[in-house]
Amino acid sequence: MEIKAIRGFNDILPDEIGKWQFVEETAREVFEGFGFSEIRIPIIERTELFSRGIGEATDIVEKEMYTFIDRSGNSLTLRPEATASMARAYLEHQIYSFDPVAKLYCIGPMFRYERPQKGRYRQFYQIDAEVFGVENPMVDAEVILMLIQFLKKVGLENLELQINSLGCRACRPRYREELKNFLMSKSFQLCEDCQRRLHTNPLRIFDCKVETCQEATANAPQVINFLCAECQGHFDKVKEYLEMAGLEYILNPRMVRGLDYYTRTAFEVVSYSLGSQNAVTGGGRYDNLFQEIGGLDVPGIGFAIGMERLISLLPKDKEFIQHPHLFVAALGEESYKEAYQLINQLHLEGVRAELDYEGKSLKSQMRKADKLKARFVLILGEEELKRGRVVLRNMETKSQEEIPIDNLLKSIKEKIF
Ligand code: HAM
Repeated sequence: MEIKAIRGFNDILPDEIGKWQFVEETAREVFEGFGFSEIRIPIIERTELFSRGIGEATDIVEKEMYTFIDRSGNSLTLRPEATASMARAYLEHQIYSFDPVAKLYCIGPMFRYERPQKGRYRQFYQIDAEVFGVENPMVDAEVILMLIQFLKKVGLENLELQINSLGCRACRPRYREELKNFLMSKSFQLCEDCQRRLHTNPLRIFDCKVETCQEATANAPQVINFLCAECQGHFDKVKEYLEMAGLEYILNPRMVRGLDYYTRTAFEVVSYSLGSQNAVTGGGRYDNLFQEIGGLDVPGIGFAIGMERLISLLPKDKEFIQHPHLFVAALGEESYKEAYQLINQLHLEGVRAELDYEGKSLKSQMRKADKLKARFVLILGEEELKRGRVVLRNMETKSQEEIPIDNLLKSIKEKIF
């Protein structure tokens, strides 16, 4: 039987890779402009990091993690997200001893055992950016501003920025109680999962897609009305800074996010072109995560962009593939030797050049050059070699000229660059 990839795990093929590279390069450029540095963290961590960091009573930890016991009996998990690992690395390597403020980003695959559908996979890529060590609400707005600048720079349009505040340890318990009491009176409307969530994590009920559960939460109390004075003050400042930067946002009091570490600011960027999986980015502040994973009391804020979703929204008319500058069509053994030498030198000079390996006819080599969308074709036959002149054809204008074989490298470079 033919072996196929696992469901929910995708190959990213050469004809799509240009988009991925473009998105990654743009992220590096924009984020580094804001003072962020890249960090690379392992794909596997101790299960505890996520169960404590993300929260035992979240969907991710309850039923979506790829967890296994290794040969030494340790429980390990394929990372379902990057924030907890980045926080662990910050603590483990005492990055704070150089400067308590760290701005970090990472790009890579995450793993969640979710039901695959369009925009939802079991291996998916995230671009994740985090700021550790700053409580100032200005940084909340700056992180969101960086995200929007990046999304615009890659060409995304018609996005909606949604924000909310989820309160803190001081004010959220009162809200949680209030919500629980409200939903208790409607528990007959809740699905089996939400009946359970009512006791373990009532805020999660907002995210349930079951219609009766959505109806039950329709007039539920909103977290925004339960904020303590500090959280209210923080949120007002965030909104003020967003407005100062000219960023439009929508207040979504039902947005609770799927991970338990959030405190205060939470945000999502959604696109209505995406269908049911419409969140391109999710993020927020998490002032207790570090303590949950056994570390110092460090505030943090950040976001993660789903790359598959982002890439599906890129402008359709934009060209992302790098085509060859030059295709060398050689005819006959001597010409091939000449072409081989020439191409090796061209590569050293940064010219994207290719040749055919199979000694095909000129016609079929021209077809190949066309297929590869090469800008120029150099025709190098035995005849041309004898005459000391070769033919350079411009594939866009279809014009061609003869150029002397002496100084060929220089002449080609002049044409191309
Ligand atoms: P999240 O909302 O779970 O947040 O994921 C962020 C983004 O990853 C989503 O908006 C979506 O675009 C993408 N995503 C999530 N699950 C899938 C999936 N199964 N298939 C395809 N794309 C998916 C986090 O992961 C947090 N760590 C974000 C964060 C960083 N908060 C603070 N810092």
